[in-house]
Amino acid sequence: MTQNQDIFARLKEDHDRHRDLLERLMETSGESDQRRALFEELTKELKGHASAEEQALYSTMMRKPPTTDDTRHSVAEHHEIEEALNDLAATDMATAAWLTKFKTFDHDYRHHIDEEEEEHFPEFAEHLTDEDRQWMRAVFERRKREEKAEAEVTPEKKEDAKE
Ligand SMILES: [Fe+2]
Ligand SMILES: [Fe+2]
Repeated sequence: MTQNQDIFARLKEDHDRHRDLLERLMETSGESDQRRALFEELTKELKGHASAEEQALYSTMMRKPPTTDDTRHSVAEHHEIEEALNDLAATDMATAAWLTKFKTFDHDYRHHIDEEEEEHFPEFAEHLTDEDRQWMRAVFERRKREEKAEAEVTPEKKEDAKE
């Protein structure tokens, strides 16, 4: 199954893993080891996913005129996601402020992946051959592993982040 899995099904599988991680994080409290460990896993998983998704899928969609705008939109959101993760990492986990920020992040991230699944992927599929999709799947698999291994929790307050 996994071998023949389509790029879009593979990305959705990651998204479902992200939804599960967000849910588990929401159930943690204070500055617990569990919250710290889950947040680190979420950060590496999301940063690795976004980079690999850009390299495998969005790079191709960027250079097709009908999908350039959607691609720009999503890649800009990836940048915002990274900034929000860094801002969360720079915020004291034991505080109510952290939970408030995390709830906003949860909402925004779910919006991003819902939009990819419901709007972008079906639109992209119209412009791709089976061969494109196979190649993307292979690139995603390889890059996700490497990008996730290199991803780090890098605390940086939103107000200090350079645009
Ligand atoms: Fe994305
Ligand atoms: Fe995604």
